[in-house]
Amino acid sequence: MSQACSIHPSILSADFMNLESELNAIATADAVHVDVMDNHFVPNLTLGLPLVEGIQRVSPIPLDVHLMISDPDRWAPAYAEAGAASVTFHAEAATAPIKLARTLRSLGAKSSMALRPVTALEPYIDMLPELDMLLLMTVEPGFGGQAFLDVVVPKIRRARAAIDGSGASVALQVDGGVTAETIKIAAEAGADTFVAGSSVYGADDVAAAIAGLRASAATL
Ligand code: DX5
Ligand code: ZN
Repeated sequence: MSQACSIHPSILSADFMNLESELNAIATADAVHVDVMDNHFVPNLTLGLPLVEGIQRVSPIPLDVHLMISDPDRWAPAYAEAGAASVTFHAEAATAPIKLARTLRSLGAKSSMALRPVTALEPYIDMLPELDMLLLMTVEPGFGGQAFLDVVVPKIRRARAAIDGSGASVALQVDGGVTAETIKIAAEAGADTFVAGSSVYGADDVAAAIAGLRASAATL
């Protein structure tokens, strides 16, 4: 099982006072993961649309926007309009996820939906063809630096099987606690897209950390 792997460093662990150089430091990654939190859907507050627009202007790589916000039906389309390559909303927060996924695609972004660790995959299997990416959280959303939740691994396996069975082209992303060790567990279970915050920006050599994650994911 060696699908192509994508590494998306999360700027949640970057130095927000030096974002442009922090973005340039991850130019060898496939996309930059931007965590938007509203202190309502999750108990933390990060950044919103104006800063995402600024990041879009200077980033050398595409934006993977992860919205941990309430009412994404209302707010998510603006991130697609801002030029994000993909926009991820949470299933638990969306009122009309199919409609929202279609709206994001119509605005030129990849449509992506996230599930918290204990949210069941099964109710969403029929809508996989509406998605370009499925994000399975491997920590409770809200903070970087948490430990990878092994309890999600069976869901990663079921998602891989469901995606393969659907015939749709859907990336399978994991987010939370991804390190050079845990990435092997997630990749073996079928994930192909990996968010990593502290294990990239906490490293002395950020580019080497990205290369190390790629190499670990490939050693299956
Ligand atoms: C957490 C965020 C993650 C976070 C991951 O809610 O969605 O993207 O940055 O950080 P690490 O890789 O440190 O667990
Ligand atoms: Zn995230």
